[in-house]
Amino acid sequence: MLKDKISPLKPPRTDAMSPGTGGTRLDDLQHTDPFNDTTRDGEIKESLRLDDGFIRNLNLNKLNQTQDMTCKKVEMKCDEITPVVEEEPQKQPSLESNREEERLDEEEDVTLEILEEMNRLEESFPILTTDYRLIDKIGEGTFSTVYKAEALNGIIKLGSDIWQSPPLKKKQKESATKKPKNPIVAIKQIYVTSSPNRIHNELNLLYILSGNSHVAPLLDVLRYQDQVLAILPYYQHSDFRDFYRDLSVKGIKKYLWELFHALDFVHTKGIIHRDLKPTNFLYDPFKGKGVLVDFGLAEKYNPLTASSNRSSNSCPCTSRDKEVISRSYTKRLNIKPAYPKQDQRPPRRANRAGTRGFRAPEVLFKCNNQCTKIDIWSAGIIGYSLLSRKFPLFNSPDDTDAILELALIFGFEKLKKCAELHGCGLVINLDKPDTMNGNLVKILHDLLAYENEQGCIPEDSVIHDTLKLFNETGDKFVRPIEPSEHDDSGAESFEEKLESYRDHKHLMELLYSCFIMDPSKRLCAKQMLKLPFFDELATNLDDEILL
Ligand SMILES: Nc1ncnc2c1ncn2[C@@H]1O[C@H](COP(=O)(O)OP(=O)(O)O)[C@@H](O)[C@H]1O
Ligand SMILES: [Mg+2]
Repeated sequence: MLKDKISPLKPPRTDAMSPGTGGTRLDDLQHTDPFNDTTRDGEIKESLRLDDGFIRNLNLNKLNQTQDMTCKKVEMKCDEITPVVEEEPQKQPSLESNREEERLDEEEDVTLEILEEMNRLEESFPILTTDYRLIDKIGEGTFSTVYKAEALNGIIKLGSDIWQSPPLKKKQKESATKKPKNPIVAIKQIYVTSSPNRIHNELNLLYILSGNSHVAPLLDVLRYQDQVLAILPYYQHSDFRDFYRDLSVKGIKKYLWELFHALDFVHTKGIIHRDLKPTNFLYDPFKGKGVLVDFGLAEKYNPLTASSNRSSNSCPCTSRDKEVISRSYTKRLNIKPAYPKQDQRPPRRANRAGTRGFRAPEVLFKCNNQCTKIDIWSAGIIGYSLLSRKFPLFNSPDDTDAILELALIFGFEKLKKCAELHGCGLVINLDKPDTMNGNLVKILHDLLAYENEQGCIPEDSVIHDTLKLFNETGDKFVRPIEPSEHDDSGAESFEEKLESYRDHKHLMELLYSCFIMDPSKRLCAKQMLKLPFFDELATNLDDEILL
């Protein structure tokens, strides 16, 4: 029953953009484009897709021997990808087997370029092929490439808490006499340009975080010379761009429930993810299951180091007397905005790792006391993106613009106060700042209403569930009016309307809690999970009901 309520996903849009996999990450010094992931292998696939006939020919080993070396390589690889199976008498295909065939086609749908890339990896990493068979490339980021692979020789055993791997061949499933299917894994090839410390950090954190169904556990690590491969379970998931406009408020609820559970676990272990964004949270909207990946920028939060920093270089936000400090800064800064001509002060240094558009204000203001709350801010950005059905939500080219964007949304005064909290002065020289003063409902209305006016929202879209809740000015949700006693025709729909209204209201409450400027006042993941928005999930502890 709950399943129907929580997984109200409409079929993915056919006009969805090419899958964007991986994510660009920034380290503390580097600034790159985090959204370049939209131009990765998804596009390459489109331009180089081999037609079915060609693939079949390769599988049947019918390639002319005189073809060049490249084709020979491909022939070899394609044979590996679709091992020949004995022909069985043809059965009438069932819906289930159709779906499975689709999945198999997906496996076969590997481009020439990717096949060559996988071949190169296998050649340069000889021990890899002993236990793994590469199937496809599934993601590419600044510091790694991720491949889908089959684990051979029983080297990997997946626990029951891991989502089921897709079956390799329908016939394996049908025949009890056949060998049990091999587990499917994700192989993350960490680029050799990553520093040994960075690689060690990622692997170590993955190891520490093993044992929770919301975080991808480290199954194995392979090293050959300077190359390192991390082996994780493979999670079937959908690209965020394919479903973010189709999730109803119940679907958003389940997504965030999974996300905050993952964060709660990670934060309880004292780890900050630092790069929370949709590509790093693999979500299956049909199963309502999500798992957090990519701990390449994650770090252990050490409150002792943070507090021992207090004296000299520490951010004023660590002070117990924040109000007083903030006021004195305000006083000093408000005398006259002035800048030293030759500023001799050393630049402020703080970890800025993360992705633009998802960074909390304390990261933008280079606070050196960043804690797990920076992930809560990023979770809020994802949540607001889901509700406004807008992705990416922010697209600022640098941190200065990012601060301005936040100022326009939350109000200049609020941002100035936030800057002061972290010991920064903020001067914005726009004459008539037209800000939304933090009214997230109004912003939501304006975004959706504009899109609706442009005729960009299909009639049957779940977006209308949100649109019909606003008042005339769009700055509030309106509680539906109860039908009169005699008028019971719309009774059921009134209940539904009321539930939708409550869900939206509670979701906004959650988002406001994510966007509290002062990190010490921002709610933690555990508190988020206790908010009324999640009541119906919290009371139904039998999660399996969703599968
Ligand atoms: N365990 C996994 N199962 C399925 N896909 C995965 C898995 N791990 C990573 N991916 C895919 O690879 C992409 C890049 O992985 P990630 O760990 O984020 O690497 P990067 O550090 O390059 O961003 C992810 O966005 C996802 O699409
Ligand atoms: Mg990533």
